[in-house]
Amino acid sequence: MARFASIRDVCSNDRPMGKQISLCAAAGAENDSARCALIVRNVLSEMKVTEIQWKTIEAYNKSAYQFDNTIGKLTNYNTSYDYLADLLEDGDSILDLACGSGQISKYLSERKHVLITGVDLSQEMLKIAQQKIPTGTFYKESIIHFPSNTQFHAVIIGFGLPYLNRKQVRECLRNSVKYILNEKYIYISFMEGVDCRIEKTSFGGDYDFLIYYHQREYIVQLLKELNVHIIKEYELDYKEEDGSISKDIVFIGKKREISG
Ligand SMILES: C[S@@+](CC[C@H](N)C(=O)[O-])C[C@H]1O[C@@H](n2cnc3c(N)ncnc32)[C@H](O)[C@@H]1O
Repeated sequence: MARFASIRDVCSNDRPMGKQISLCAAAGAENDSARCALIVRNVLSEMKVTEIQWKTIEAYNKSAYQFDNTIGKLTNYNTSYDYLADLLEDGDSILDLACGSGQISKYLSERKHVLITGVDLSQEMLKIAQQKIPTGTFYKESIIHFPSNTQFHAVIIGFGLPYLNRKQVRECLRNSVKYILNEKYIYISFMEGVDCRIEKTSFGGDYDFLIYYHQREYIVQLLKELNVHIIKEYELDYKEEDGSISKDIVFIGKKREISG
C-alpha cells in the first residue's frame, strides 16, 4: 500500500522468535525455572503493542477521516476483494482484523450478506466502520492477541501486518488461523520489503507512522507452517514520488483440514 514517503530508518529486523523459545525449552531443569519464566515473560511482553506503535495508532485516530476519504476510497484492491467475495456465501461470518474504517468489510457486505466482526485499536477508525456497517460488531482490541471463542468463514488482515514486527506477525497469524473454520479463507495484504521506518503518509499530514515491511517468503513460510494453502496471490506495483517502485502483496489462502 505504497502511500508513504520514507523519512528515516528506525529499527533493524527482529531476531527469529524460535531462538528464545528453544532457550526456554533448554531451561527445563528446576533451578532454571525462574530463568525460564523470565524468558516467557519477555516473549509475551514483546507481543504487546509498544509505545512507538501506540503513536501510530494515535496518528490513525487523528487522521481517521482523512484516511477514509482518500485511501479508503481506492479501488486498486477491488479485484482481490471480488475474488474473496466469490468464495463467500450469504450468511457467512467475517473477522476483519485491523479493519480501520471498514472499507473491505463494507465492500464485501455489498457483494454478499455477510456478518462482520471488526477489530482495530483506533477508536476513531472504529467509529467510521460502525457508521458504515451498522449491523457489524466492532472491538477495540489488538490484532496480535484478539480473543475469540468462535470461528469464522474468513479472516481478513488488510494492511494490518505493516504495523507489527516479525514476532507479532507470527503471533497474529497463528491466532488468526485458529479462528478460521476448516477449508475456509484468510485474506492478507502487506508491503514487501525488509525494513521498518517512521514515515509520513499521504493522508496523515505531519503525523509519524511506524511501518514494517515484510518479506514475501517469510509470510509464505508462516502460512505453510499454519497449514494454510495460498490459492491466489496479487502483486501491485506502486510508483513512489522519488520514482522507486514499492510492492504490495495480497494472499488469499485456504485453511486445510488437519486430519486425525
Ligand atoms: C492501513 S489501515 C488498514 C485499514 C483496512 N484494513 C484497509 O485495508 O483499508 C491499518 C489499521 O491498522 C490498525 N492497527 C495497527 N496496529 C494495530 C494493532 N496492533 N491492533 C489493532 N489494530 C491495529 C490501525 O489503527 C489502522 O486502522
